[in-house]
Amino acid sequence: MATVYVSRRLPGPVMAELARRFILIGQPHDRPATREELLEAASQADALAVTLTERVDADVLDRAPRLKVVAVYAVGYDNVDVTAATRRGIVVTNTPDVLTETTADLAWALILGVMRRIPEADRLVREGRWEGWAPAQLLGADVFGKTLGIIGMGRIGRAVARRAAGFGMTVLYHTRHPLSHEEEVALHAKYLPMPQVLQRADIVTIHTPLTDTTRGMIGKAELAVMRRSAYLINTARGAVVDEAALAEALEQGRLAGAGLDVYQHEPHVHPRLLALPNTVLLPHIGSATTETRVKMGLMVADNITAVLEGRKAPHRVN
Ligand code: DGY
Repeated sequence: MATVYVSRRLPGPVMAELARRFILIGQPHDRPATREELLEAASQADALAVTLTERVDADVLDRAPRLKVVAVYAVGYDNVDVTAATRRGIVVTNTPDVLTETTADLAWALILGVMRRIPEADRLVREGRWEGWAPAQLLGADVFGKTLGIIGMGRIGRAVARRAAGFGMTVLYHTRHPLSHEEEVALHAKYLPMPQVLQRADIVTIHTPLTDTTRGMIGKAELAVMRRSAYLINTARGAVVDEAALAEALEQGRLAGAGLDVYQHEPHVHPRLLALPNTVLLPHIGSATTETRVKMGLMVADNITAVLEGRKAPHRVN
């Protein structure tokens, strides 16, 4: 049987399935694997199953003489040096599709949460500060009928757009490869250059992968063209947004609010974002449902099995 290193403890059914198929080496913890643990495991493993909290770079790959596949337990794989892996003939896989709807749901939870001030309202009740109904208490912004701007119209962006129909929204989007006319009609979505999406949207939601092109894509200049009444939502990768610029725009009232699930330097959250009342800040839980996390894990197992059996991995990225 092949030896597989699993960097974090995955849900029970996933660990059981992995143990049934492979010899598991190392000790998966609830915390991220340390660099030393990863290097040690890489030196013995046929496959690495890693999460987004482990960085698999050329150094790790150089210490991995038997390694055939790096299976990422996420759709985003910016933590893996894919070029270095490809050069060494190592397959890299991810877990798309199964988390699309789950992540789109969370983007909507953030939209509704920040615009209707749900966390603030919950705190008011929970902390015993609520003195009864009041006409001007916790006034938020209407969501229905607004203009939604989607940056990145891949699987998750499209799933977010589908939900917008229920809120009677206008959907504008920007993406690298615009949709076909039929897809645009089905989603009631209109392609525009990014500055125009930013200018016109009441809500801008980000769904791009983190690449050299998208790193820092939403910075001071981009935030400056957004409406003062607009909200920014990010469930993609933190480094797509310049957090200091975002904090400044929010502090100066140049933006109404932000809902974030991801951060530039996780688990560090920019202190100025923490201090603001008009931010809803989640701990990177976009795909965090029991059903989805189990499906992601079984996908990791299938990707590894395929490569080790000499077949094409179902979700190969290189
Ligand atoms: C992903 O899949 O990339 C998420 O961010 C982690 O669940």
